[in-house]
Amino acid sequence: MEKILFVNACVRSESRTLELAKHLLGKLDGEVQELILDSEKIPALDGETLKKRDSLKNSDYSDPMFKYAKQFAAADTIIIAAPYWDLMFPALLKIYFEAITVTGITFKYSPEGQPIGLCKAKRLIYLTTAGGPVFDELNLGYDYAKKLATLFYGIPETVCFKAEGLDIYGADIPAIITEAKNKIDSCF
Ligand SMILES: Cc1cc2nc3c(=O)[nH]c(=O)nc-3n(C[C@H](O)[C@H](O)[C@H](O)COP(=O)(O)O)c2cc1C
Repeated sequence: MEKILFVNACVRSESRTLELAKHLLGKLDGEVQELILDSEKIPALDGETLKKRDSLKNSDYSDPMFKYAKQFAAADTIIIAAPYWDLMFPALLKIYFEAITVTGITFKYSPEGQPIGLCKAKRLIYLTTAGGPVFDELNLGYDYAKKLATLFYGIPETVCFKAEGLDIYGADIPAIITEAKNKIDSCF
């Protein structure tokens, strides 16, 4: 059975991004592992944590600090749901990316210094919603996740589902969300 890793970087209890992600998950077959970043409390990669990680990498990956990278590397499909915050996404997700971008688990370097992906996943699906009309030029959260996926993790296919303009005065929020769900329906 396909292993689907759902990285839930939504913060608000009434999250519209999470609503889109749940809609998508309802259409996929597989065993879903949900990682709620707001509950995980992954420590930031500070000086002490980095020192420990550097002392263990390429030799002993049994420490619990590597569990997120191992889980990510083993998944068949990755789904990331993250609201659009400050042109990107919540810091919780950046902390997660730092926790999983580990040499020897999710990628390695070629002798020439190029990253080579070690992840099993064939696709990464990114869902996001924004308050303003931003995505034509500034879909920076997705663009960043896509670059990590393709350049570091070796995940060839990435796709983004999004809804924008949700916080504009007078916005027809149900219609905007329905349109995004219809887009998902047309792909799955
Ligand atoms: C901390 C914070 C930062 C935000 N930054 C932006 C932003 O840079 N651009 C924008 O268009 N909307 C921004 N918004 C609005 C959210 O993108 C919008 O409300 C989104 O739909 C929230 O997703 P959610 O319903 O899943 O929580 C921000 C909201 C918060 C709480």
